[in-house]
Amino acid sequence: MKLCVIIPLCALFSVSQQAALVEKCVCQLSSLEKTFPYDKLKTAENNASHCNNKITSQKAVELESLLLGLDRRLPQLEEDVRILEREDDGDLYGVLSLYVIENEIAAINQLINNLNTTTLRHQSLTVNTTQQLQYVRNEMQELENFDTMQVVKRQQANQRLKKDLDKCINGRHPTPPPTQPPHGICPHGAFMNITGPRVYTGGEYPGSYKYGAWGRDPKPEKGKESWYWLVMLTSSNIYAHYVRLYSTLSSLIVGVSVPGNFQIHPSNPTTNTIQGPNVVLYGGALYYNCYNRDAVCRFNLTTKSVTDVQLPKGTRYNSKGNFCNLDACYPYTDLDLATDESGVWLIYTTSQDFGNLVLTKVEEGEQPSLGQTWHTSMYKQAVTNTFMACGKLYATRYVNTDVEEIFYSFDTATGKERFDVGIFMNKMHANIQALNYSPVDHMLHAYSDSFLVSYKVQFESDDSLYRYIF
Ligand SMILES: *[C@@H]1O[C@H](CO)[C@@H](O)[C@H](O)[C@H]1NC(C)=O
Ligand SMILES: *[C@@H]1O[C@H](CO)[C@@H](O)[C@H](O)[C@H]1NC(C)=O
Ligand SMILES: *[C@@H]1O[C@H](CO)[C@@H](O)[C@H](O)[C@H]1NC(C)=O
Ligand SMILES: *[C@@H]1O[C@H](CO)[C@@H](O)[C@H](O)[C@H]1NC(C)=O
Ligand SMILES: *[C@@H]1O[C@H](CO)[C@@H](O)[C@H](O)[C@H]1NC(C)=O
Repeated sequence: MKLCVIIPLCALFSVSQQAALVEKCVCQLSSLEKTFPYDKLKTAENNASHCNNKITSQKAVELESLLLGLDRRLPQLEEDVRILEREDDGDLYGVLSLYVIENEIAAINQLINNLNTTTLRHQSLTVNTTQQLQYVRNEMQELENFDTMQVVKRQQANQRLKKDLDKCINGRHPTPPPTQPPHGICPHGAFMNITGPRVYTGGEYPGSYKYGAWGRDPKPEKGKESWYWLVMLTSSNIYAHYVRLYSTLSSLIVGVSVPGNFQIHPSNPTTNTIQGPNVVLYGGALYYNCYNRDAVCRFNLTTKSVTDVQLPKGTRYNSKGNFCNLDACYPYTDLDLATDESGVWLIYTTSQDFGNLVLTKVEEGEQPSLGQTWHTSMYKQAVTNTFMACGKLYATRYVNTDVEEIFYSFDTATGKERFDVGIFMNKMHANIQALNYSPVDHMLHAYSDSFLVSYKVQFESDDSLYRYIF
């Protein structure tokens, strides 16, 4: 076909050249294809880069710094209230203090308003940019029709092939298909990062007890949903004989304990005394290492009765299987009780596991019992603490006085271990004596050198712009 066209054209050309050199020859090329709409591509490009410019990391920092401001102001307010309570002479001093507190509250209100407007602005920005990006996407899909040479399609196919190739090359460590964790429901996806501290307080007894634990009951009884619990090792940094409860987070922060103590025994240490800091409250009962025994005790706060479950032979206890940092071990941290979406867990070690972490599900019931057990290859003394989230065990290690790293994970759904989790926590004090995850609000509660600190856990499905909102 082409040939037929070209030959007569050439013939014509040569003929006309011979006939008269002055005459011009014009070739007209008509294409059946539509012209490519460069202007549309240009607009789409502009719109996309406009979106990029609008969403900056600055926006996220804005919220974080406002929250941090709030975090700093609240302790100040608590301090002022505390001073007022202590030193109120019912006279001029009280009036002055109230004045200071009023100002403080006004400043906090201002911060909250800023936070509200910033949040609203970000929401509207997200809606706008999402819409814009949808436009651009549709536009680009239309433009793809002009890709008659299939360049883009082939590039995409190449990318897919390259990904497959990479997977083949890394075949020795295939990424397991996403599986539903057998324990609990994890609609929020994988554990991604940690932000904070959000709460940092000395609580009711600032600086008094170096070892302890605190948190929130993930399965609270009715009417106790906002309660917080605190256990301090009040005797020799080893033993405790009561749980202290607070009706809200703010009463915990300002140190007003209502309804107060739930006592296991009036003295200490004795049968059923709490031994070691890594305890948890779940379903209205405290789970802990029973005094001088390789057993888990459960103290029912309602009935004030204790039931227990014996651990397997070879379980290390009485400070023989502790968590450690580089220089020293944390005494009596043999048994670490933990909670997540699915209930209570026990992290410990045994002689037959050569000191490696062992994980056992603790089942509720008339009396607590031991469920499934997993054996890991992580040496317990290389770990400073552990916690559970969504059926995964996480272990931390001491990096320096300011930083702790969540470096290890064990997935009970797949049995897969990771030694390169690489999530860093900002510490307020060098040591972490207890660490526990609260599935209710996705907070990680740490007891750190007598201070109560909490962090926000960020999961895969948390929207990056909204994750800073309460
Ligand atoms: C670019 O944005 C403008 C204004 O929002 C919109 O009218 C236009 O349709 C967008 N164009 C593309 C290609 O997305
Ligand atoms: C946030 O701002 C909106 C609109 O201005 C208002 O309706 C809402 O009550 C504010 N919320 C708070 C907690 O101040
Ligand atoms: C979002 O779009 C609306 C309407 O176009 C506009 O009034 C508003 O200022 C936009 N918001 C942001 C944060 O760009
Ligand atoms: C985790 O969050 C911190 C800020 O809190 C950030 O600096 C860091 O890059 C984040 N890490 C990952 C893996 O997202
Ligand atoms: C505590 O005791 C009460 C009353 O017998 C019972 O209803 C509740 O289930 C017990 N809690 C636990 C965690 O065993």
